[in-house]
Amino acid sequence: MTSTPQSCVLGTGRYLPSQVVTNSDLTNLMETSDEFIVQRTGVRHRRWAPPEMAASDLAALACRDAVADAGLSMDQIDMLIMNTITPDHADPGCAFFLQAKLGLAGTPVLDIKQQCAGLIYGLSLADHFIRAGTCRHVLAACSEKLSTRIDGSYEGRNIAILLGDGAGAAVVGPSPDGRRGILSTILHADGRHAKALYTAAPGSALGRREHLTPDDLQSGRVHFRMDGKAVFTNGVDKMSEAIFECLDANGLTLDDIDVLVPHQANLRMLEAIEQRVGISRKKVYVNVEEYGNIASASLPIALDESRHTGMVQPGNLVLLVAFGSGFVWGSALLRA
Ligand SMILES: CC(C)(COP(=O)(O)OP(=O)(O)OC[C@H]1O[C@@H](n2cnc3c(N)ncnc32)[C@H](O)[C@@H]1OP(=O)(O)O)[C@@H](O)C(=O)NCCC(=O)NCCS
Repeated sequence: MTSTPQSCVLGTGRYLPSQVVTNSDLTNLMETSDEFIVQRTGVRHRRWAPPEMAASDLAALACRDAVADAGLSMDQIDMLIMNTITPDHADPGCAFFLQAKLGLAGTPVLDIKQQCAGLIYGLSLADHFIRAGTCRHVLAACSEKLSTRIDGSYEGRNIAILLGDGAGAAVVGPSPDGRRGILSTILHADGRHAKALYTAAPGSALGRREHLTPDDLQSGRVHFRMDGKAVFTNGVDKMSEAIFECLDANGLTLDDIDVLVPHQANLRMLEAIEQRVGISRKKVYVNVEEYGNIASASLPIALDESRHTGMVQPGNLVLLVAFGSGFVWGSALLRA
């Protein structure tokens, strides 16, 4: 009889570009102010990558860091999962460009597009592939170069102020001692709200034959458009619900959780979630003031920092929670 292997996060890694962009730097690009940004979002700085670095370059550095942290070599990776909303090119998927840079030719790759919940979905897929015995070591990477998506127009500035660049990665493999583990992953989505935060063009739903037109650029259809209030309210609701759902599913209470690592959407959202669920800031990992919102990369970067700054200790119960455009949300419970 074969037993199902328990999977765990064996290693994590991150890469943040060195250029720091302040709120006052943004005032050169759009009509905004440090006061508005700090008061509404808590963000003070973000990092921007240089033009010559693509999402796959940021991801490759985070992946190498994660594989080394796991004590593995790249040739021990059996599958690569990549999540980004800022791919290297329109097609094929960004995972192919990342795979080539990591020297993983022949290894299966999977592009997923789960926005800010990319790590939660990536961990869930990795856990299932490992427990099914299909793979031994899965590398999940989340990378974003959101500085290429800054639109300082009146319609674009509400989201532009949040965005930063960076990458994070996690290696999932069999638990060495059966104690460390991915205890649960819970996934949700609700496409009825897909247009609350989306980019209309290019796309096949524009009622025409052309892929892209000059009017797409002029009208701003190529830029993110966000209903900020809908995203804020749903983000707080869904991340709070996901925390309680994870606790219920695992027969735990909030007191059992040592560290909560949430998607770093916006400091005000994190404060609202803390209040809603009744968790102390001391247990919540927060870096959004320093890095802004890096979409899918925020969560693995925060997880890696929380592990390497000593906030997460071996044996701790760590709850990851995320929400993103789609809407998409979910949780992952880890024993560190
Ligand atoms: C972005 C956010 C701070 C904007 O706050 P908001 O109150 O919803 O903003 P609105 O878009 O309704 O605009 C309110 C006012 O602020 C203004 N405003 C919006 N962005 C601004 C900016 N960057 N600088 C200055 N003023 C701005 C608007 O023009 C509007 O002014 P008006 O009433 O005179 O037209 C807020 O919606 C938010 O944090 N939402 C969640 C965003 C998020 O986390 N997204 C990522 C999801 S993973």
